[in-house]
Amino acid sequence: MCSNRSGANRNLNQCSVDQTVPGKDQVVIDIHCHVLPEVDDGPKSWDVAVEMCRMAAADGITHTVATPHANDRYAYDRTYLSGLLDQLRGKIDPWLRLQFSLGCDFHLSFENLERVLEQPHTYTIGETNYLLVELSNFSVPTHLSECFTRLGDRGLTPILQQTPQRILEWAEQGCLIQVTASALTGLWGERPEIVARWLLDRSAVHVLASDAHETKRRIPNLSAARAVAERIVGAEYADALVEGNPGAIVKGMPIPYCPRPVLD
Ligand SMILES: [Fe+2]
Repeated sequence: MCSNRSGANRNLNQCSVDQTVPGKDQVVIDIHCHVLPEVDDGPKSWDVAVEMCRMAAADGITHTVATPHANDRYAYDRTYLSGLLDQLRGKIDPWLRLQFSLGCDFHLSFENLERVLEQPHTYTIGETNYLLVELSNFSVPTHLSECFTRLGDRGLTPILQQTPQRILEWAEQGCLIQVTASALTGLWGERPEIVARWLLDRSAVHVLASDAHETKRRIPNLSAARAVAERIVGAEYADALVEGNPGAIVKGMPIPYCPRPVLD
């Protein structure tokens, strides 16, 4: 329960005010990166996957969560993917100082909801209770708030990707909001950038992540978006978006920086 949101009816547990926002010595964590090769629409080869790791490290990222899709198009086999991640660890240069966790870009369909309620840690970020959730633009389940309540009752905290649909309501319910770094920097055009800035202005963003897929356009970079965020909300909040909050997520801890969303 987030005690710095007095009056909020929150049933998902992820916030604490007992911790402080970490300083510059903290690591930079990307909780959303399609870095495993040949399993989804991410890298098509090991060479590209390894290059993505090099680019991430060059950007200052120190921990990448590999998040293959789990949706109608791409099956998700945790055991197989864990093996792939081990292979990737063995292929990158140790000096990169890049750590990895396995997560999932979890499509919230009816079937997937039942699967995750049955076996939560097949899909979570590592062994934590954080679940990166992708909402379809075309087939959003009708009772999403109820879905999130069921996930919360199972001990899971959904991390929703940027979407304007009732997002503040869900943030108020206790979901965390992840904004894609390249949306904030304008790569996807005016509309996604406006939405990202709108959410940030309302303190409704908890983490920035790359959602990288390759090395040309959808790249593993957080520093550019962090700089944009700093201009909008200041350094403390911007640091929390790429350091303190995702750092807590990969450890399964409550996020340290959890302002109450500003509801219009
Ligand atoms: Fe993704």
